[in-house]
Amino acid sequence: MRTRHRVDTSTQFDPAAALPERRRIERADLEPVPATVTDTVEVGREPYIAGPRLAEAVNVAVALGRPLLLQGDPGAGKTRLAHAVAYALGLPLEEMYVKSTTRAQDLLYTYDAVRRLYDAQLPAGTAGDPGNVGDYVRLGPLGRAIARAEQGRRSVLLIDEIDKADIDFPNDLLRELDQLAFDVAEQPGRRHAVPEDRPDLRPIIFVTNNEEKVLPSAFLRRCVFHFVEFPRDVGLLDEILAAHEVPEAALREGAIDVLVRLRSLNLTKRPGLSELLDWVGYLRAVQTPVVELDLLPYIGALLKVRSDVALAETMPAPGAASPSGRAIGDRLPRGLPGGDGG
Ligand SMILES: Nc1ncnc2c1ncn2[C@@H]1O[C@H](COP(=O)(O)OP(=O)(O)OP(=O)(O)O)[C@@H](O)[C@H]1O
Ligand SMILES: [Mg+2]
Repeated sequence: MRTRHRVDTSTQFDPAAALPERRRIERADLEPVPATVTDTVEVGREPYIAGPRLAEAVNVAVALGRPLLLQGDPGAGKTRLAHAVAYALGLPLEEMYVKSTTRAQDLLYTYDAVRRLYDAQLPAGTAGDPGNVGDYVRLGPLGRAIARAEQGRRSVLLIDEIDKADIDFPNDLLRELDQLAFDVAEQPGRRHAVPEDRPDLRPIIFVTNNEEKVLPSAFLRRCVFHFVEFPRDVGLLDEILAAHEVPEAALREGAIDVLVRLRSLNLTKRPGLSELLDWVGYLRAVQTPVVELDLLPYIGALLKVRSDVALAETMPAPGAASPSGRAIGDRLPRGLPGGDGG
């Protein structure tokens, strides 16, 4: 079957695989993409724990050669998954952080007509050669991933926060995502394409969608979808904190307990993983004793809405018969960082 979406299970993302702490990976953003690996960067292992359902979604998307569309609460781990997969597979990561002005075309290439015009007005030899159109074409992240496939090497591509762009953005990408090929209109005859018979070279594409913005159904049809849930399993939360170098088991346990209890309240904005990591990071830095966590110190790292802070104040301590009724401000450890409990 010679189709772009031939199932190819030869590449597997195994979240349980033992990985080195650091590894050298091909540099991603080189233009033009070199024929052989000329430049590498040393990357540290991504502290990411992917559960089995998430890993399965990655493998389905890779096998089908379709982008994995990730939705989920802020800080749920949508963006960093691409980093984790790129690291695990030892592949360069091409990144596109979408803005309101980003066009789908920018993912493929940009053409600098203004500079070409400018160069044409300068005396010959003093600037670029406007006769050489290729000098004014710069491949974008998807363009480079496709050009790298032509050189026989695979890439991971992150298209982050697709909801930030205009609705035309996903629609304008349909053809290129299907064909993994594009023409450079300004340079007749220049075409880049992933070799059709090499599914193992198809870029591994992650698309994140922050808001619950509905994407066009034609775009959805071309993706594999996964909703990144906040970990329900306390053990997984503990593993995530440990992966982020929180070695103190008692601190991990105490912080997770507070987080789980806070999340059980009817909050406007429930704290997620990102908040937990920030909070624990600070608790460690100032060496707050674990016994003080029930006093909700430095609550601003966890709760971002005033009414949520007020609600948290009424949260009974574990085993307590009734809420303390005291304002959180009164209960914060005072004095020097180090949380002497004051
Ligand atoms: N499964 C996980 N294992 C380890 N760390 C995680 C995991 N998920 C998220 N994190 C950590 O949580 C933080 C937020 O992750 P990330 O930036 O990927 O979230 P996001 O879903 O892209 O957030 P946003 O919607 O705000 O862009 C990062 O520090 C990341 O390392
Ligand atoms: Mg993100």
